[in-house]
Amino acid sequence: MKKLVVLGAQWGDEGKGKVVDLLSPEFDMVVRYQGGSNAGHTVIYNQKRLVLHLLPTGVLHKDVKAVISQGVVIDLQLLLEEIKKLEEIGINLTDRLFLSDRAHIVLSYHKALEKILENKDKIGTTLRGIGPTYMFKFARRGIRLCDIKDENRLYSLIEENVNFVKELCREELSDCELSAQEVYEKTLELYQTVKDWVVDVSKVLISSQSVLFEGAQGSLLDIDSGTYPFVTSSNSSALGLTSGTGLPPKYFCDAKFWGVFKAYLTRVGAGPFPTELNSQEGELLRKIGDEFGSTTGRPRRCGWIDLVALKHVIETNGIDALVMTKLDVLDTFERLKVCVAYRLDGKIIEHFPPDIMTLQRVEPVFEELPGWQTSTRGTRSINDMPDKALEFISFIEEQVNTPIVMLSTGPSREEYILL
Ligand code: GDP
Ligand code: IMO
Ligand code: MG
Repeated sequence: MKKLVVLGAQWGDEGKGKVVDLLSPEFDMVVRYQGGSNAGHTVIYNQKRLVLHLLPTGVLHKDVKAVISQGVVIDLQLLLEEIKKLEEIGINLTDRLFLSDRAHIVLSYHKALEKILENKDKIGTTLRGIGPTYMFKFARRGIRLCDIKDENRLYSLIEENVNFVKELCREELSDCELSAQEVYEKTLELYQTVKDWVVDVSKVLISSQSVLFEGAQGSLLDIDSGTYPFVTSSNSSALGLTSGTGLPPKYFCDAKFWGVFKAYLTRVGAGPFPTELNSQEGELLRKIGDEFGSTTGRPRRCGWIDLVALKHVIETNGIDALVMTKLDVLDTFERLKVCVAYRLDGKIIEHFPPDIMTLQRVEPVFEELPGWQTSTRGTRSINDMPDKALEFISFIEEQVNTPIVMLSTGPSREEYILL
């Protein structure tokens, strides 16, 4: 396989990090192409839990090249911290990290603006400055890595933006000292430490033999096909691939698209969630699944798996195959529910509504399946899977008409089954 795209098929945190880490050694390169440090991709490395926010998960393998392409918004401070953290555990990136010269950078005024926006209208963002950095990008006020070289221009861009933010938020920012000079100096200082990695990334990608594209967030958080406005500010589905990498659509014609999904469902932050469990069962999922945000530590909202949403994701991304994670979290449940349709005003609907007002009103229609009530954690052979777990897997496969090609049975690298 030359080109593989691994996407989150729910509202993020599906276990993409674990899956990408597992698959990376088969590829020359692993690429993050959208989002930024709002992502938190967890891997177990040498028995320790490691969370990557900006670097592609493939960096943990020393022969794999790591690319951050133009669609990612980069917080240089956090990037350096992440690089340092890896160096401390013996992972060196000297000749194998590539940062797109066209990638926009996240600056302190973006974060200041996000705080104010979140106080007014709660989306429940990660407060990493992601939304405002994309706002500035599309308003043509952004600053890219390639813009830092021209120091005079950089200063005037920063000054304009700082003044713009101050003007916009005069009341809220009255006691906040946003200084263009400080932002400018800090940016130059940070740039010095990364500049050798900054290149024209699309050229690097085109010349590579095999590439794994690591999606961040999940398709239901996509700015266009997700639950707008309770979404992130990038195309976190396959829609973001071409603009996010700078590669032509044709490049992806022979790519494979895999969607990673949990055996249940979670969401962090606000927004509709038809199958949410505000009950003891929800608490149990959170507790057993350790459902607390990898980036912010917030408790994740938990509920039953929603196949209406999953089918929408499969269709909008052209998903070829699925990877199911965290099946083991369901091990103790006596009965399991799977949402197969919605009920809206007394009628059954099978499509995923585009507007949140409707999505907030739908009631899930569930099919109940028996639980297996035995441990599947760490199972490495399909022959050792209980029959009822296999029935659960087959039921989902048939309902969404897409093969499940891999099962993750625990957080560690070796805890998986290829189907
Ligand atoms: P990502 O953002 O999609 O990479 O997912 P996160 O890392 O934010 O969250 C997934 C969590 O589930 C992490 O704590 C992983 O270590 C853990 N995890 C991944 N796969 C499995 C699995 O199959 N079983 C269990 N129990 N945990 C898993
Ligand atoms: P990974 O890659 C889960 C959510 C936030 C919030 C919304 C907007 O680890 O799966 P943002 O900071 O992006 O403007 O927040 O999106 N969100 C995520 N939820 N996993 C993520 O990434 C997320 N990245 C953003 O909680 O609801
Ligand atoms: Mg995560």
